[in-house]
Amino acid sequence: MSATIIDGKQLAQKKGEMIKTALERLKTQGITPGLAVMLVGEDPASETYVRNKQRACERMGIHSRLIRLPTTATEQHLLDHVVQLNEDPHIDGILVQLPLPVHISTETVIRAISPEKDVDCFHPLNVGKMILGETGFLPCTPHGILVMLKEIGVTLSGKHVVVVGRSHIVGKPVGQLLLNEDATVTYCHSRTENLSSFTKQADILIVAVGRANLITEADVKEGAIVIDVGMNRVNNKLVGDVEFASVRDKAAFLTPVPGGVGPMTITMLLENTVYAATKARA
Ligand code: GUN
Repeated sequence: MSATIIDGKQLAQKKGEMIKTALERLKTQGITPGLAVMLVGEDPASETYVRNKQRACERMGIHSRLIRLPTTATEQHLLDHVVQLNEDPHIDGILVQLPLPVHISTETVIRAISPEKDVDCFHPLNVGKMILGETGFLPCTPHGILVMLKEIGVTLSGKHVVVVGRSHIVGKPVGQLLLNEDATVTYCHSRTENLSSFTKQADILIVAVGRANLITEADVKEGAIVIDVGMNRVNNKLVGDVEFASVRDKAAFLTPVPGGVGPMTITMLLENTVYAATKARA
């Protein structure tokens, strides 16, 4: 079997058209949604992510503002910016790019963001609402994965989803979103013994660890759906956590890296920004 490759770029463009329609409607009411992105330090990966987010905003006609702070910035300095942005009527979404330098508490900074402007869905209040299945922001990468799965028409109810990775950004929330869709969810992580025995049971395997080629053909059930969230630079080439060439021959569906989950994450961020502006101003 050769897997159908899920084209995240194409799906992101399709969703982008729907976002554009919502933006045009807002424009007739004199509303231009605004996203503020805070970048502390000069981590090259973060620089790339932030640049991609800004470009996407520009393409769509969403106002974007970049606030750059040096690695030496204090936590208070960052918090002062957050407070200002919380009160700024032109800013609907606030995103603090992670990771932050070690002397700054990520928890404190995230809690300072107004839950109404928390387009990453990192604030504990929004995480709680998401777990309870209440209406509100959904986290960008997990939501992008859910949209992809719905696009290929898979029934999620009763399916065994195995999530490898338990980060607050991807692993934990994607499992919760799929649990809300009535999937049976197993979490695996760095301390899991005999990882392969779990991954081989997955109807849907989601890998978000950050280790190149962690999952090979031997770890995958024939006909599984494999979602690769990894973004690893190997010999200056971007690769995922899944060994694409071998898994492609065993899976039914597979996301590529790049061009899979990545573009969907950005599209969901734009959607959250439009949602925030609509809720606050329309
Ligand atoms: N760092 C890596 N992924 C993300 C993300 O989705 N949001 C933020 N704020 N930082 C990140």
